[in-house]
Amino acid sequence: MALKVTVVGVGMVGEQIVSILRERNFPMKWPPRICATRARSEVLAGEGFHVEETAEGAFEGVDVVFFAGKEGGKGASVQWGKKAVDAGAICVDNGGDFRMDPAVPLVVPEVNLDAVTPDKSFIASPNCSTIQMVLVLDALHRAARIRRVVVSTYQSVSGWGVAAQEDLLKQIPHALKSLDDIPFEPTVFASPIAFNLFPHIDKFLEDGYTKEEMKMVWETQKIMGDDTIKISPTTVRVPVLVGHGEAINIETEKKLSAAEAREILANSPGVVVIDEPNTNSPRNDPLERTYPVPLDVRRPEYQDMVLVGRIREDPTIENGLNLWCVADNLRKGAALNVVQIAEGLIERGRLNP
Ligand SMILES: NC(=O)c1ccc[n+]([C@@H]2O[C@H](COP(=O)([O-])OP(=O)(O)OC[C@H]3O[C@@H](n4cnc5c(N)ncnc54)[C@H](OP(=O)(O)O)[C@@H]3O)[C@@H](O)[C@H]2O)c1
Repeated sequence: MALKVTVVGVGMVGEQIVSILRERNFPMKWPPRICATRARSEVLAGEGFHVEETAEGAFEGVDVVFFAGKEGGKGASVQWGKKAVDAGAICVDNGGDFRMDPAVPLVVPEVNLDAVTPDKSFIASPNCSTIQMVLVLDALHRAARIRRVVVSTYQSVSGWGVAAQEDLLKQIPHALKSLDDIPFEPTVFASPIAFNLFPHIDKFLEDGYTKEEMKMVWETQKIMGDDTIKISPTTVRVPVLVGHGEAINIETEKKLSAAEAREILANSPGVVVIDEPNTNSPRNDPLERTYPVPLDVRRPEYQDMVLVGRIREDPTIENGLNLWCVADNLRKGAALNVVQIAEGLIERGRLNP
């Protein structure tokens, strides 16, 4: 019997969920029920859907609900999560409202699917910048125990949602004429983002960090089950449409050479290492190496992976590594992760198609 699925939210992440369910042949009755704040027709991933206004009936008899609505008191999972669980569905939420709730498992399936014990029906998926970092850190932590991480992110505008991507595209023609007076939508970002970048993602907290930065600390410690790992983050928005980059400095208890780290990561699920001599370099630099960039996530062989490069030892500390990673924030950073959680629950017999 095919699973019955509801997707709540038809923004950037909701559309990707629909596309990924189809592309991975998720064992479900097609089409899924699609809900948002209001009813209408919508083309998602090339297919026409009837979008319903979200209401209690949307969860009756449904096996899995993927939440991809906005966060907060008026957001989708706060309004509808409990009702969906009470109706008997397993819910997987992309938003941040319940990630740090001790009763809610926060899951990257390659790392901690075990956190979904039989009594849990509401599962949170981490923030996009956390997911890609955790896949890298977990593999190295198992080999050499991580003590401290310093991370700087380079996050694309799609991480904010559809309005931010549209705003960047609108700003570019103005910026090409003059950089001095680029109109921008101040309810999205605090400055124009075209040909610019800023160290400000999500709200500021009292200690001067932003909420995005602290999500990377709290969520990573929860997923890896180790709050002794120290994490020092700076999160930066860059004028890239899709694909987040992260420069990560890692201090371990046990020494790992760059070659050992490369080998560990190359053998880790969900990770691809792109870090070898660039024999095709047109720049005649014999030391040039290959490395991943955000546009790489458009390639089918990379779209679902965390790409890692620039792996090198940090000579300024005893056991240190530097590396760079890139992933599609809408796929592995959001929609793919929630679908993989549901696939993991099928494999474990928790969901029975
Ligand atoms: N973008 C990313 O890279 C990323 C990564 C990880 C996690 N997330 C999380 O994923 C979620 C969706 O993000 P997004 O970028 O796709 O946002 P988005 O493009 O702004 O789309 C939000 C969607 O949610 C719907 N919605 C909002 N409130 C709702 C409610 N109370 N009930 C039902 N539907 C509601 C909206 O409906 P209408 O269309 O009717 O307005 C819209 O379709 C957010 O929680 C975000 O934090 C995003």
